[in-house]
Amino acid sequence: MLGSSALLLAGGLGLLGYSLWEAQAYSTREFTLRVLEPERESLKILHLSDIHLMPNDHKRADWLRSLIDLKPDFIVNTGDNISHPDAVPVLLDALSDLLTLPGAFVFGSNDYYGPVFKNPLSYLRKGAAPIKHAPELPWGQLRNGFNSAGWTDLNNAHEQIKVGSLLLDIVGVDDPHIHRDRYEDVAQHADTNADVSLGVVHAPYRRVLDAMTADGVDLILAGHTHGGQICLPGYGTLITNCDLDRRYAKGLSAYTLTPDDGWDVDDVDEDLVASTWLHVSPGIGTSPYAPIRLACRPEAILITLTSH
Ligand SMILES: [Fe+2]
Repeated sequence: MLGSSALLLAGGLGLLGYSLWEAQAYSTREFTLRVLEPERESLKILHLSDIHLMPNDHKRADWLRSLIDLKPDFIVNTGDNISHPDAVPVLLDALSDLLTLPGAFVFGSNDYYGPVFKNPLSYLRKGAAPIKHAPELPWGQLRNGFNSAGWTDLNNAHEQIKVGSLLLDIVGVDDPHIHRDRYEDVAQHADTNADVSLGVVHAPYRRVLDAMTADGVDLILAGHTHGGQICLPGYGTLITNCDLDRRYAKGLSAYTLTPDDGWDVDDVDEDLVASTWLHVSPGIGTSPYAPIRLACRPEAILITLTSH
């Protein structure tokens, strides 16, 4: 009996050790999406999300610094950058080379509020609300750092950005997880004169994904889920921490507008698409109170948009 208890304990400690290691096993992933008209220049988008940087995260900061070697053309940052009030200068320094490139960002709840300890079981509750009374983070300092480098603030904004010879039509919302999204203020059908249209959001709540899909964006970029963070090999994540189905929890998916959620496809203009590409980043960091990952490596993703 004692033998099996000791074996269980050893197995548990081994799994914990592995999960702590995997949370720092930073990796990159690349894929190509053919969404541009023929004979257009390709565009390499580096998607960063959920960095959750602490001031002493030197390994993570060094790895972020190395991402310039991927030679991206454009950076999309989908929020949750910091986990400590003193992390902003460290983050801006780690991203300093990437900040010389064109980019755009939205914020997540962990740009506004610091992490607090949660009951581990609350992790399994679907769409758990963010904890109130968390300490405020210096999001203004973070926004100024990104803005002064030239990155476009997409928190409830719709902009057109020229990158090389391509015109990007790009719409973003502030974080739906803490009810800061105001898509109705910035909604409009994607500009057909643009080469590509992008939607950007931190937490991929369906109300935002459906609205962006109905407006005809080509690709939606999101974060927040951490890919579930703890995944079962062969099954995937248990939760997404929002109302998104777990099959979309990380990676590239074909997202289809859901008519039973209030959208009537028959009412949508004929020239609008009812599905789009959705890329959900598994993120780079974790809450400092849960620095573990299982079967869900931290990732930066390079998405190359090319012609049909
Ligand atoms: Fe996050």
